[in-house]
Amino acid sequence: MVKQPDPSPKHDARKASATSRVRTGDIFRVYARETRKHWVLFMAVFLGALGAQIAGIISPLYMKMLFNAVASDPRTAQSFHDLVGLVVIIAALSLIGWIAQRVQTYSIIHLESRGMADLSADAFDYLIGHSYQFFVSHFGGTLTRRVSKFAGAFETIMDNVMLAFFPTAVFAVGAVWVLFLRNHVLGIALAAWIVCFIAFQIYVARLRRPLRVARSEADSKMVGTLSDAISNQNTIALFSGKEHEGGIFRGVIELWRKATMRSWNADEMIWSVQGILIVGINVGLLYGAVVYWEQGLITIGDFVLIQSYLIGLFGQLTGISMQLRRFHDAFADAVEMMEIIQLPHEVKDVPDAPPLRIGTGTIVFHDVDFWFNEEKPILTGFNLSIGGGEKLALVGPSGAGKTTITKLLLRLYDIKGGVLAIDGQDIAKVTQDSVRDAIAFVPQEPILFHRSLMENIRYGRRNATDEEVIEAAKKAHCHEFIEELPEKYGTFVGERGVKLSGGERQRVAIARAILKDAPILVLDEATSSLDSESEALIQDALHTLMEGKTVIVIAHRLSTIMKMDRIVVVEHGGIAAQGTHEELLAANGLYHKLWSIQAGGFRE
Ligand SMILES: Nc1ncnc2c1ncn2[C@@H]1O[C@H](COP(=O)(O)OP(=O)(O)OP(=O)(O)O)[C@@H](O)[C@H]1O
Ligand SMILES: [Mg+2]
Repeated sequence: MVKQPDPSPKHDARKASATSRVRTGDIFRVYARETRKHWVLFMAVFLGALGAQIAGIISPLYMKMLFNAVASDPRTAQSFHDLVGLVVIIAALSLIGWIAQRVQTYSIIHLESRGMADLSADAFDYLIGHSYQFFVSHFGGTLTRRVSKFAGAFETIMDNVMLAFFPTAVFAVGAVWVLFLRNHVLGIALAAWIVCFIAFQIYVARLRRPLRVARSEADSKMVGTLSDAISNQNTIALFSGKEHEGGIFRGVIELWRKATMRSWNADEMIWSVQGILIVGINVGLLYGAVVYWEQGLITIGDFVLIQSYLIGLFGQLTGISMQLRRFHDAFADAVEMMEIIQLPHEVKDVPDAPPLRIGTGTIVFHDVDFWFNEEKPILTGFNLSIGGGEKLALVGPSGAGKTTITKLLLRLYDIKGGVLAIDGQDIAKVTQDSVRDAIAFVPQEPILFHRSLMENIRYGRRNATDEEVIEAAKKAHCHEFIEELPEKYGTFVGERGVKLSGGERQRVAIARAILKDAPILVLDEATSSLDSESEALIQDALHTLMEGKTVIVIAHRLSTIMKMDRIVVVEHGGIAAQGTHEELLAANGLYHKLWSIQAGGFRE
């Protein structure tokens, strides 16, 4: 019995991602690991930020001296000389601050761009390793957005921490400390105010969260409606649905507008309270300073010192609520990708799996069970042995599970019970790549890359020469239509290959399989979109290709499979009948019925 990772339907990718719990710490760990790779840059950012803030804290101390000197010193040559000295020191500090800031920004540019590139590449590698089932359960557009947002979130979080939170904290601590040394009461007052300000920010961030979530949901809904309409533009035009769709879109937009307004209103309210807090501390400290000045405890210079610190601090703190919001949003973005990264790959190679050693290409399905949904099994105790070099046809009603059988052979899904072996080796115990290398598969609905035809065909064997590609194209009868295209083999085929007709796409897929020339060939309705004449031509090429190979052909058009060694009729998760064309006709079962309908159709 083949061991299965998780046979229950809860393993469904979409459900799994909806229930997964991504913790904040997980995201930090991934980003921290990335940062550690570039630790020299990170240290440069850190020291740059520290240097810039320290310069910003020290500089007002000299301003204070300057103002005190201006207020009290006589206008003599000596005091002029001293004042110029102070101006030079202030200039030097500003220059140091400027250099430190350049170091900080230059390093962060390098750190973030490298980090984002690495994270995108890693996310791509992991994402693309997910199973076929994962991709049929997720929208392509959503996945694309998740990968790009994952890298974007790294930038935002790094910017926030290293350009906003950390420098603000250093400046705040420095300012409070200096002020405290000068006057305990003023220092403590400023410290208390900063604590209140931050507590307020954290409190409102929590209050605002549901509003932001509502807005982002409305946002997703709007994008979803829009992209659904865009991909169904053809249907909308054909069924005169423009006004209907416009109505739906306006309804969604209205919800979005309301959610956005609520969220912005809350922001505005927070800004107002924040403004009052700032005026309060400003006036409070000035009043305190006046009182102490009256008592002769502080000087004119101290006023300048306090104002310098407050102006610096307000500049940093007013931005902090915006930064906090971005920080939260970035986390929300990163969570979406982390869900995918934490979701184990469904179809995995076992540790140290050897490659498949392919011989004649015998295939055995032994007691195979498979379902997408436990209530509706596709195969139960399915048995089928295909000899090396045998040409087998699968027929049966639509939805019987023919395509699924071939996908199990390709290990696009893991079977739930039983064993599936090629040349005596359980395909679950050898590498997936080696299994797929042994099989050339022409799918029912081929999808192509938005790349040139040359590259698309060459995908069958990526080291094939142009001549080999063209030869395969000729055999698959693609060459004729490709030669008529303006760019010939250099023509791009549109997203998913939409610029080609169904039959042209099929021929490209056949050319790929011809080029691949693998020991096992699987054709799933490979010629269904072709007219009878082209099909007859390609059948010839396919028959040549089939020589010496194990072949599975699925076809609704029974005329195309008459010559197969054996025909297997699949129905209700099992084999209803099998034999040669003549034997099955004689048995007078489902095959006979299908044949009569098709033959009848031809006669009319
Ligand atoms: N990814 C999937 N998730 C859930 N159910 C699926 C999935 N793929 C196929 N099915 C279901 O499995 C059943 C078998 O599908 P399959 O594509 O194997 O049928 P088929 O015999 O190839 O039909 P046709 O002749 O129409 O191509 C169908 O009922 C289908 O709805
Ligand atoms: Mg099918």
